[in-house]
Amino acid sequence: MERVLRAGAPIAAEYPLVFAGSRHAAFVIDEADGEARSTCALLERELLVRGRKLHAGLIGSVATDPRWRGQGHGASVLAEAEQELARRGALLAILWADDTDYYEKRGWRRFGWEIDFEIPSDCAASMPEPFGVRERRPEDDGQLHELYERHPERIARSAEETSALLSCPDMEVLVVERWGRVAGYSCLGRGADMRNVVHEWAGDAQALLTLLREHFARRRDRGVEESLFLIAPPSAVDVAERLEKVGAQMSEGVVGMAKILRPQEAGSLCAELFDRRAGVHCTAAHEDGTVEFTGPKGKVSCTREVLFDLLFAPLADRALVEQVGGKLGVPGIELPLTPFVWGLDSI
Ligand SMILES: CC(C)(COP(=O)(O)OP(=O)(O)OC[C@H]1O[C@@H](n2cnc3c(N)ncnc32)[C@H](O)[C@@H]1OP(=O)(O)O)[C@@H](O)C(=O)NCCC(=O)NCCS
Repeated sequence: MERVLRAGAPIAAEYPLVFAGSRHAAFVIDEADGEARSTCALLERELLVRGRKLHAGLIGSVATDPRWRGQGHGASVLAEAEQELARRGALLAILWADDTDYYEKRGWRRFGWEIDFEIPSDCAASMPEPFGVRERRPEDDGQLHELYERHPERIARSAEETSALLSCPDMEVLVVERWGRVAGYSCLGRGADMRNVVHEWAGDAQALLTLLREHFARRRDRGVEESLFLIAPPSAVDVAERLEKVGAQMSEGVVGMAKILRPQEAGSLCAELFDRRAGVHCTAAHEDGTVEFTGPKGKVSCTREVLFDLLFAPLADRALVEQVGGKLGVPGIELPLTPFVWGLDSI
């Protein structure tokens, strides 16, 4: 991984939950004659979405030695990672792709919904003065973790995991204090990834804008005048309103790519979300990922792609829910789900 992804530089400190020897993490290695040809990392996590816990697996750092590319080594490492996560009970796998086509060909789909902001540096002057803003200290981590846990959509973490992630290299973490308590935090950049991106934050809109102003000021001191980018879940409407007011550009995007690993469970979850009063049942799930639903009005058979979009359609598009729900005779108001993953969790 270091050879292919970091030109030989260390990678472990960027992903403390993957490389610290947890039983929830593992590596797939395709090797011959003692030489690694292709590899990837995986990490089991709990995805919290609409008050539910979904067992999910993250896949990251997929890397094939340049001398062995184009021979299916990457594809077999990926397939093995998916199987291992399925064996460990993960309903779905998630990854962040550089080349989405590569994964789409292998059954992965774009999933989730996030709001991305581009904030030009001249917006900083319209943000609140950064009173009470300072760099995060390790003794703040308990309070930062409490703030993190207020996000309704997130990956579940222990306080120790949050603390380990906050210590990632090449990341600027600022906190804002009010009345002696930490009222918000923001993380800019992370290792080799997410340069100029505030990928994780917590606190109210006022706290966040105060933090952003200080990020801008510190970057200016380093001679950086480029725009900042900020990622937010669609539920952050106050933040969106304030950022638009100061001149940020907003666009919608997906969280990443995902693939259902356990169609039977995904089918049951989907049936339950179609109708809480148990009017819809998942009556069959096949090896190829297709499932069958029975509802008050009729039966529907769904391909794995349709099942995926019923649960996790990009930007929570409801077109398929309405079409399938119409045939089943239920409105499916709880679908699709809007999972969101904060930046420190990506691997
Ligand atoms: C992305 C990556 C892991 C793919 O590994 P790989 O072992 O070459 O993958 P595969 O052999 O399974 O597939 C490579 C694809 O490129 C095509 N290909 C053909 N010749 C190739 C060559 N000389 N080099 C690379 N790819 C080639 C293959 O036919 C295949 O196409 P397909 O998608 O239509 O099947 C590898 O290119 C890599 O390490 N890239 C740099 C790191 C990276 O971007 N990682 C992703 C981070 S999530």
